Amino acid sequence: MITNQEVVNFFARKSALSVSTIAKEAGLPVSTLPKAIAGQRTLNAKHLQALEPVLMQYGFSTFTDRKARIVSIVNHKGGVGKTTTTINLGRALALQKYKVLVIDMDSQGNLSQCVGMDNPERQLFEALIHKQDLPIYPVVENFDVTPSNLELAKYERDLTHSPSGALRLKAVLAPFINQYDFILIDCPPALNIFTNSSLIASSSALVVLEPETSAVKGINNLFELIGEIRQYFNERLMIDGIVLTRVDGRLVIHKEMIQTIRQDLVKFSVFTTEIRLNTALKESQYAQMDIFQYSPNSPGAQDYRQLAKEYIATLNL
Ligand SMILES: Nc1ncnc2c1ncn2[C@@H]1O[C@H](COP(=O)(O)OP(=O)(O)OP(=O)(O)O)[C@@H](O)[C@H]1O
Ligand SMILES: [Mg+2]
Repeated sequence: MITNQEVVNFFARKSALSVSTIAKEAGLPVSTLPKAIAGQRTLNAKHLQALEPVLMQYGFSTFTDRKARIVSIVNHKGGVGKTTTTINLGRALALQKYKVLVIDMDSQGNLSQCVGMDNPERQLFEALIHKQDLPIYPVVENFDVTPSNLELAKYERDLTHSPSGALRLKAVLAPFINQYDFILIDCPPALNIFTNSSLIASSSALVVLEPETSAVKGINNLFELIGEIRQYFNERLMIDGIVLTRVDGRLVIHKEMIQTIRQDLVKFSVFTTEIRLNTALKESQYAQMDIFQYSPNSPGAQDYRQLAKEYIATLNL
Protein backbone atom coordinates (compact mmCIF):
# COMPACT_ATOMS: atom_id res chain seq x y z
CA MET A 1 0.00 0.00 0.00
CA ILE A 2 1.06 3.60 -0.52
CA THR A 3 2.52 5.44 2.46
CA ASN A 4 1.67 8.73 4.15
CA GLN A 5 5.05 10.18 3.11
CA GLU A 6 4.55 9.20 -0.54
CA VAL A 7 1.21 11.01 -0.56
CA VAL A 8 2.76 14.12 0.99
CA ASN A 9 5.64 14.07 -1.52
CA PHE A 10 3.24 13.55 -4.43
CA PHE A 11 1.22 16.65 -3.55
CA ALA A 12 4.38 18.65 -2.89
CA ARG A 13 5.46 18.05 -6.47
CA LYS A 14 2.05 18.30 -8.10
CA SER A 15 1.06 21.63 -6.69
CA ALA A 16 -1.50 22.23 -9.47
CA LEU A 17 -3.72 19.36 -8.26
CA SER A 18 -6.87 20.20 -6.31
CA VAL A 19 -6.53 18.62 -2.88
CA SER A 20 -10.21 19.09 -2.05
CA THR A 21 -11.39 17.44 -5.29
CA ILE A 22 -9.14 14.42 -4.71
CA ALA A 23 -10.18 14.15 -1.04
CA LYS A 24 -13.83 14.21 -2.10
CA GLU A 25 -13.26 11.55 -4.79
CA ALA A 26 -11.61 9.33 -2.17
CA GLY A 27 -14.45 9.97 0.30
CA LEU A 28 -12.14 11.44 2.99
CA PRO A 29 -13.36 13.90 5.65
CA VAL A 30 -12.81 17.49 4.43
CA SER A 31 -9.79 18.46 6.55
CA THR A 32 -7.95 15.10 6.66
CA LEU A 33 -5.93 15.39 3.47
CA PRO A 34 -4.95 19.09 3.78
CA LYS A 35 -3.82 18.45 7.37
CA ALA A 36 -1.75 15.42 6.32
CA ILE A 37 -0.11 17.44 3.53
CA ALA A 38 0.70 20.18 6.04
CA GLY A 39 2.29 17.59 8.35
CA GLN A 40 -0.34 18.12 11.07
CA ARG A 41 -1.59 14.54 11.04
CA THR A 42 -0.83 11.14 9.54
CA LEU A 43 -3.13 9.31 7.16
CA ASN A 44 -4.24 5.95 8.51
CA ALA A 45 -4.50 2.68 6.56
CA LYS A 46 -8.17 3.29 5.71
CA HIS A 47 -7.42 6.73 4.26
CA LEU A 48 -4.47 5.40 2.26
CA GLN A 49 -6.49 2.52 0.89
CA ALA A 50 -9.21 4.92 -0.27
CA LEU A 51 -6.68 7.35 -1.76
CA GLU A 52 -4.58 4.86 -3.72
CA PRO A 53 -6.93 4.21 -6.69
CA VAL A 54 -7.82 7.92 -6.91
CA LEU A 55 -4.20 9.07 -6.91
CA MET A 56 -3.34 6.51 -9.60
CA GLN A 57 -5.66 8.41 -11.93
CA TYR A 58 -3.59 11.53 -11.29
CA GLY A 59 -0.25 9.91 -12.23
CA PHE A 60 0.80 8.43 -8.89
CA SER A 61 2.10 5.16 -10.39
CA THR A 62 4.68 6.82 -12.65
CA PHE A 63 5.71 8.97 -9.69
CA THR A 64 6.58 5.95 -7.53
CA ASP A 65 8.14 4.02 -10.39
CA ARG A 66 11.57 5.51 -9.81
CA LYS A 67 14.33 5.45 -12.37
CA ALA A 68 17.05 7.98 -11.88
CA ARG A 69 17.88 10.46 -14.54
CA ILE A 70 21.67 10.42 -14.49
CA VAL A 71 22.97 13.83 -15.48
CA SER A 72 26.56 14.87 -16.20
CA ILE A 73 27.14 18.51 -15.25
CA VAL A 74 29.80 19.28 -17.76
CA ASN A 75 32.18 21.74 -19.40
CA HIS A 76 35.90 21.21 -19.79
CA LYS A 77 36.50 24.90 -19.18
CA GLY A 78 37.46 25.47 -15.53
CA GLY A 79 35.66 27.67 -13.04
CA VAL A 80 32.43 28.15 -14.98
CA GLY A 81 30.09 26.99 -12.19
CA LYS A 82 29.77 23.20 -12.63
CA THR A 83 30.24 22.35 -8.96
CA THR A 84 28.08 25.27 -7.81
CA THR A 85 25.33 24.10 -10.18
CA THR A 86 25.61 20.44 -9.15
CA ILE A 87 25.14 21.30 -5.47
CA ASN A 88 22.50 23.97 -5.74
CA LEU A 89 20.42 22.54 -8.57
CA GLY A 90 20.65 19.20 -6.74
CA ARG A 91 19.49 20.77 -3.50
CA ALA A 92 16.70 22.70 -5.23
CA LEU A 93 15.45 19.39 -6.69
CA ALA A 94 15.71 17.76 -3.25
CA LEU A 95 13.64 20.58 -1.78
CA GLN A 96 11.01 19.75 -4.42
CA LYS A 97 10.97 16.25 -2.88
CA TYR A 98 13.05 14.54 -5.54
CA LYS A 99 15.59 12.10 -4.16
CA VAL A 100 19.01 13.24 -5.33
CA LEU A 101 22.51 11.76 -5.28
CA VAL A 102 25.45 13.96 -6.30
CA ILE A 103 28.71 12.33 -7.35
CA ASP A 104 32.08 14.05 -7.10
CA MET A 105 33.87 12.98 -10.28
CA ASP A 106 36.58 15.60 -9.91
CA SER A 107 39.80 14.92 -8.02
CA GLN A 108 39.85 18.58 -6.93
CA GLY A 109 37.13 17.36 -4.53
CA ASN A 110 35.38 20.74 -4.54
CA LEU A 111 31.90 19.28 -4.37
CA SER A 112 32.85 17.16 -1.37
CA GLN A 113 34.48 20.14 0.37
CA CYS A 114 31.36 22.24 -0.24
CA VAL A 115 29.26 19.73 1.71
CA GLY A 116 31.85 19.52 4.50
CA MET A 117 33.54 16.28 3.44
CA ASP A 118 37.15 17.37 3.03
CA ASN A 119 38.55 14.01 4.10
CA PRO A 120 35.90 11.40 3.41
CA GLU A 121 36.35 8.08 5.13
CA ARG A 122 35.32 6.28 1.97
CA GLN A 123 35.16 7.66 -1.54
CA LEU A 124 34.30 7.08 -5.19
CA PHE A 125 37.60 5.57 -6.35
CA GLU A 126 37.11 2.60 -4.02
CA ALA A 127 34.07 1.59 -6.05
CA LEU A 128 35.72 2.34 -9.41
CA ILE A 129 39.05 0.68 -8.66
CA HIS A 130 38.59 -1.79 -5.81
CA LYS A 131 35.12 -3.04 -6.75
CA GLN A 132 33.67 -1.98 -3.41
CA ASP A 133 30.10 -0.71 -3.00
CA LEU A 134 29.56 2.90 -3.96
CA PRO A 135 30.02 4.97 -0.77
CA ILE A 136 26.98 7.17 -0.22
CA TYR A 137 26.64 9.69 2.60
CA PRO A 138 23.40 11.51 3.47
CA VAL A 139 23.87 15.28 3.66
CA VAL A 140 20.34 16.62 4.21
CA GLU A 141 16.87 15.27 3.48
CA ASN A 142 16.67 13.74 -0.02
CA PHE A 143 20.25 14.77 -0.80
CA ASP A 144 23.15 12.31 -0.66
CA VAL A 145 26.75 12.57 -1.84
CA THR A 146 29.47 10.26 -3.09
CA PRO A 147 32.69 12.13 -2.29
CA SER A 148 36.17 12.25 -3.80
CA ASN A 149 39.43 13.98 -3.12
CA LEU A 150 42.91 14.16 -4.66
CA GLU A 151 43.29 10.38 -4.27
CA LEU A 152 41.04 9.96 -7.32
CA ALA A 153 43.73 11.52 -9.53
CA LYS A 154 46.11 8.66 -8.73
CA TYR A 155 43.87 6.28 -10.62
CA GLU A 156 43.41 8.30 -13.81
CA ARG A 157 46.13 6.32 -15.60
CA ASP A 158 44.82 2.94 -14.44
CA LEU A 159 41.32 3.73 -15.57
CA THR A 160 42.50 5.20 -18.88
CA HIS A 161 44.52 2.08 -19.69
CA SER A 162 42.00 -0.47 -18.51
CA PRO A 163 39.63 -1.79 -21.20
CA SER A 164 36.73 -1.43 -18.76
CA GLY A 165 37.87 1.91 -17.31
CA ALA A 166 35.34 4.16 -18.97
CA LEU A 167 32.46 1.75 -18.31
CA ARG A 168 32.95 1.25 -14.61
CA LEU A 169 30.96 4.23 -13.34
CA LYS A 170 27.94 3.05 -15.31
CA ALA A 171 28.22 -0.40 -13.70
CA VAL A 172 28.76 1.06 -10.24
CA LEU A 173 25.65 3.27 -10.50
CA ALA A 174 23.35 0.56 -11.86
CA PRO A 175 22.21 -0.81 -8.46
CA PHE A 176 21.14 2.68 -7.35
CA ILE A 177 19.06 3.68 -10.32
CA ASN A 178 15.79 2.77 -8.60
CA GLN A 179 16.69 4.56 -5.39
CA TYR A 180 17.00 8.08 -6.77
CA ASP A 181 15.12 10.47 -9.04
CA PHE A 182 18.29 12.30 -10.06
CA ILE A 183 21.96 11.36 -9.96
CA LEU A 184 24.01 14.47 -10.77
CA ILE A 185 27.68 13.99 -11.65
CA ASP A 186 30.03 16.92 -11.12
CA CYS A 187 32.57 16.55 -13.95
CA PRO A 188 36.16 17.84 -13.90
CA PRO A 189 37.42 20.65 -16.14
CA ALA A 190 38.90 18.27 -18.73
CA LEU A 191 37.77 15.94 -21.48
CA ASN A 192 39.40 12.99 -19.75
CA ILE A 193 38.49 9.49 -18.57
CA PHE A 194 36.37 10.91 -15.75
CA THR A 195 34.26 13.05 -18.06
CA ASN A 196 34.03 10.20 -20.59
CA SER A 197 32.91 7.78 -17.87
CA SER A 198 30.27 10.23 -16.67
CA LEU A 199 28.83 10.75 -20.13
CA ILE A 200 28.80 7.01 -20.79
CA ALA A 201 26.90 6.44 -17.53
CA SER A 202 24.45 9.31 -18.07
CA SER A 203 20.99 9.72 -19.47
CA SER A 204 21.86 13.31 -20.31
CA ALA A 205 24.27 16.19 -20.01
CA LEU A 206 23.68 19.65 -18.61
CA VAL A 207 26.23 22.04 -20.07
CA VAL A 208 27.26 24.88 -17.79
CA LEU A 209 28.44 27.91 -19.71
CA GLU A 210 29.80 31.28 -18.65
CA PRO A 211 29.14 34.06 -21.14
CA GLU A 212 32.83 34.72 -21.77
CA THR A 213 34.51 34.51 -25.16
CA SER A 214 37.03 31.91 -24.03
CA ALA A 215 34.32 29.68 -22.58
CA VAL A 216 32.13 29.84 -25.66
CA LYS A 217 35.02 29.22 -28.08
CA GLY A 218 35.82 25.73 -26.76
CA ILE A 219 32.25 24.53 -26.50
CA ASN A 220 32.24 22.76 -29.87
CA ASN A 221 34.90 20.33 -28.59
CA LEU A 222 32.46 19.32 -25.89
CA PHE A 223 29.61 18.83 -28.35
CA GLU A 224 31.93 16.71 -30.52
CA LEU A 225 32.77 14.51 -27.53
CA ILE A 226 29.08 14.14 -26.65
CA GLY A 227 28.42 13.17 -30.28
CA GLU A 228 31.19 10.58 -30.18
CA ILE A 229 29.99 9.07 -26.89
CA ARG A 230 26.49 8.90 -28.36
CA GLN A 231 27.72 7.18 -31.52
CA TYR A 232 29.95 4.56 -29.91
CA PHE A 233 28.80 4.03 -26.30
CA ASN A 234 25.51 5.58 -25.30
CA GLU A 235 23.04 6.27 -28.08
CA ARG A 236 20.45 7.57 -25.62
CA LEU A 237 22.66 10.37 -24.29
CA MET A 238 20.74 13.63 -24.54
CA ILE A 239 21.67 17.23 -23.94
CA ASP A 240 19.08 18.53 -21.45
CA GLY A 241 20.20 22.09 -22.02
CA ILE A 242 22.74 24.80 -21.46
CA VAL A 243 22.77 26.70 -18.17
CA LEU A 244 24.24 30.19 -18.29
CA THR A 245 26.06 30.94 -15.06
CA ARG A 246 28.03 33.75 -13.42
CA VAL A 247 26.04 36.23 -15.48
CA ASP A 248 26.90 39.84 -14.67
CA GLY A 249 23.89 41.93 -15.68
CA ARG A 250 25.96 45.12 -15.54
CA LEU A 251 28.30 44.01 -18.31
CA VAL A 252 27.25 44.93 -21.83
CA ILE A 253 29.56 42.21 -23.14
CA HIS A 254 27.67 39.56 -21.16
CA LYS A 255 24.37 40.75 -22.62
CA GLU A 256 25.81 40.58 -26.13
CA MET A 257 27.42 37.20 -25.58
CA ILE A 258 24.19 35.78 -24.18
CA GLN A 259 22.25 37.02 -27.19
CA THR A 260 24.76 35.32 -29.50
CA ILE A 261 24.74 32.10 -27.46
CA ARG A 262 20.94 31.96 -27.47
CA GLN A 263 20.93 32.39 -31.25
CA ASP A 264 23.85 30.11 -32.15
CA LEU A 265 23.11 27.30 -29.71
CA VAL A 266 19.33 27.36 -30.03
CA LYS A 267 19.16 23.68 -30.99
CA PHE A 268 20.71 22.71 -27.63
CA SER A 269 18.00 24.60 -25.70
CA VAL A 270 19.51 27.25 -23.52
CA PHE A 271 17.55 27.57 -20.25
CA THR A 272 15.61 30.82 -19.87
CA THR A 273 16.77 31.02 -16.24
CA GLU A 274 20.21 32.58 -15.94
CA ILE A 275 22.34 32.20 -12.81
CA ARG A 276 23.47 35.68 -11.85
CA LEU A 277 26.84 36.50 -10.37
CA ASN A 278 26.14 36.49 -6.64
CA THR A 279 28.69 36.64 -3.84
CA ALA A 280 26.43 34.58 -1.53
CA LEU A 281 27.08 31.55 -3.75
CA LYS A 282 30.81 31.85 -3.19
CA GLU A 283 30.37 32.55 0.52
CA SER A 284 28.06 29.55 0.96
CA GLN A 285 30.81 27.26 -0.32
CA TYR A 286 33.30 28.73 2.10
CA ALA A 287 30.75 28.09 4.87
CA GLN A 288 30.30 24.53 3.53
CA MET A 289 26.57 24.98 3.01
CA ASP A 290 24.32 24.99 0.00
CA ILE A 291 22.78 28.33 -0.92
CA PHE A 292 19.37 27.41 0.55
CA GLN A 293 20.91 26.82 3.97
CA TYR A 294 23.26 29.80 3.76
CA SER A 295 21.02 32.50 2.29
CA PRO A 296 17.61 31.25 1.13
CA ASN A 297 16.48 34.65 -0.19
CA SER A 298 19.68 35.56 -2.04
CA PRO A 299 19.65 35.99 -5.84
CA GLY A 300 21.65 32.74 -6.05
CA ALA A 301 18.95 30.80 -4.18
CA GLN A 302 16.21 32.39 -6.28
CA ASP A 303 18.01 31.53 -9.52
CA TYR A 304 18.72 27.89 -8.65
CA ARG A 305 15.15 27.45 -7.36
CA GLN A 306 13.87 28.85 -10.65
CA LEU A 307 16.27 26.71 -12.70
CA ALA A 308 15.03 23.56 -10.93
CA LYS A 309 11.43 24.53 -11.71
CA GLU A 310 12.24 25.17 -15.37
CA TYR A 311 14.23 21.93 -15.59
CA ILE A 312 11.43 19.85 -14.08
CA ALA A 313 8.96 21.47 -16.47
CA THR A 314 11.13 20.68 -19.52
CA LEU A 315 11.36 17.06 -18.39
CA ASN A 316 7.58 16.89 -17.95
CA LEU A 317 7.91 15.54 -14.40
N1 LIG B 1 26.82 32.60 -9.88
C1 LIG B 1 27.96 32.76 -9.20
N2 LIG B 1 28.22 33.93 -8.59
C2 LIG B 1 29.37 34.13 -7.90
N3 LIG B 1 30.32 33.21 -7.79
C3 LIG B 1 30.13 32.03 -8.39
C4 LIG B 1 28.95 31.72 -9.12
N4 LIG B 1 29.03 30.46 -9.60
C5 LIG B 1 30.22 29.99 -9.18
N5 LIG B 1 30.88 30.91 -8.46
C6 LIG B 1 32.22 30.82 -7.89
O1 LIG B 1 33.12 30.68 -8.97
C7 LIG B 1 34.13 29.74 -8.66
C8 LIG B 1 34.06 28.59 -9.69
O2 LIG B 1 32.81 27.94 -9.54
P1 LIG B 1 32.73 26.36 -9.57
O3 LIG B 1 33.73 25.77 -8.63
O4 LIG B 1 31.31 25.99 -9.38
O5 LIG B 1 33.17 26.11 -11.06
P2 LIG B 1 33.60 24.74 -11.74
O6 LIG B 1 33.19 24.82 -13.15
O7 LIG B 1 33.10 23.59 -10.94
O8 LIG B 1 35.17 24.83 -11.59
P3 LIG B 1 36.21 23.63 -11.93
O9 LIG B 1 36.23 23.56 -13.41
O10 LIG B 1 37.51 24.09 -11.34
O11 LIG B 1 35.68 22.39 -11.31
C9 LIG B 1 33.87 29.28 -7.24
O12 LIG B 1 34.65 30.06 -6.38
C10 LIG B 1 32.41 29.60 -7.02
O13 LIG B 1 32.12 29.89 -5.68
MG1 LIG C 1 34.15 21.99 -10.13
